Amino acid sequence: MVISQDQLAHFNSLKTPFYFYDTQLLERTLNFAKSEADKYGYILHYAMKANVNDKVLQAVHAHGFGADCVSGGEVQKAIDAGFSADEVVFAGVGKSDDEILTALSHDIFCFNCESIQEIQVINELAAQEGKVAQIAVRINPNVSANTHAHISTGLKENKFGVNMSEMDAVLEVIAASKHIKLVGIHFHIGSQITDLSSYKNLCVRVNQIQEWFVARHVALEFINVGGGLGIDYYNPEVNDVADFKAYFAIFAEFLELRPGQKVHFELGRSIVAQCASLIARVLYVKEGETTNFMILDAGMTELIRPMLYQAYHKINNLSAIGTTLASYDVVGPICESTDTFAKGLELPLSKRKDIIEIKSAGAYGEVMASNYNLKTLHRSVYSDEVSVVI
Ligand SMILES: Cc1ncc(COP(=O)(O)O)c(C=O)c1O
Repeated sequence: MVISQDQLAHFNSLKTPFYFYDTQLLERTLNFAKSEADKYGYILHYAMKANVNDKVLQAVHAHGFGADCVSGGEVQKAIDAGFSADEVVFAGVGKSDDEILTALSHDIFCFNCESIQEIQVINELAAQEGKVAQIAVRINPNVSANTHAHISTGLKENKFGVNMSEMDAVLEVIAASKHIKLVGIHFHIGSQITDLSSYKNLCVRVNQIQEWFVARHVALEFINVGGGLGIDYYNPEVNDVADFKAYFAIFAEFLELRPGQKVHFELGRSIVAQCASLIARVLYVKEGETTNFMILDAGMTELIRPMLYQAYHKINNLSAIGTTLASYDVVGPICESTDTFAKGLELPLSKRKDIIEIKSAGAYGEVMASNYNLKTLHRSVYSDEVSVVI
């Protein structure tokens, strides 16, 4: 997305910081993801954890996605946003009894279970409620996602899923649980995956795992391969929509399905990341001994990814028009040294009150905002309302 002069004029009249959503780009992304998935009859769930902004959820729901939730709060939010319960899945290593009861009360499509104990608890609670809960077992496939260690989830050392070595015991527990029905298996190997060969490796591993189930005469209605498709944080203007074509084609080529078996996906970042920027103002430019500090009114309280995962976000000064460049450490106002978006960044000569855009912030941005230091994040702005406001 590229911010227009009209939009910049509007931003200048507003209090910062705020998130700016490009609703047209979101539409384009959703249309492309859905049409590529439809080619193969794949079922898409949107990973709510990426962004639960109401307008985003409306758009996602309108394009026929289900919801992938990781808490009772997300399950409730999905239902409130209009997602039908039979398109809601619920994952997470630590589902509390209350969260399980919330999901049972809505008769959600499936619990993605991550431990034997969890399966037993869901069975007990479903019995108490007089229900039968559909479950998928989340399996840790020990496949590398070739991504940042903090967002890798499918390796032995990660806390997620059940190992194949425990699977005989899992099947015994399921067989003895009258209020559980096993309907699928679930995988999610990590996030911001740009090396698509990781997905080929996942398919190969899933095929082996399927053989294991077939040998035990266990029929699986679906395979859920999770999400994780990465986006281009370095060239967001050029690659503003993720390569869903290549992504789904890998599964079509390498995943071996049994007759009637469906494939489910849980995409978060690739759906929403490019559709929003964090808009901030320069409060001060301070000359340090070794560097200049550009101090923004937005910090880790609005967008924590750079501080949490050393994530890169492209930063533009929308107000600066000169060609002279200077080097800046772009930092926030929070009383923590880690509150730094970028170090030694070359930007046009910048001054107090310039408007700064931090791009590709639609996923794991607004949803992770906190009010640490009692900071205020202002109301989000949407591209389809800017022309009305001006
Ligand atoms: C179980 C599960 N599914 C889906 C996702 C969505 O991942 P992404 O936003 O990378 O597509 C996550 C995120 O970590 C997850 O934990």
